[in-house]
Amino acid sequence: MEAKKQLLENLKKVCLCRSIKAGTIMTAIRGGTLSFEALRRELGVGTGNCKAKRCRSKIEERICDYKSSLKDAEVSTVPTQPERN
Ligand code: FES
Repeated sequence: MEAKKQLLENLKKVCLCRSIKAGTIMTAIRGGTLSFEALRRELGVGTGNCKAKRCRSKIEERICDYKSSLKDAEVSTVPTQPERN
């Protein structure tokens, strides 16, 4: 069920003007494209008729969520110090 949800999420169009799907955007973000301007250059998001009015906030939110997930992963992998006697 979770895989089906993820597949549907990936197929959702985020930049409607340019028909760019969430999966394409997330692949670029996971590959290290971590700003809206960089995604614009790489994928063409935000270059449609609305000039990013409809998609910019959604894409920036995805970048933000991804960065927070990285920070959470770092915190959970930091080893704890053993207690000294
Ligand atoms: S929805 Fe992305 S440029 Fe219009």
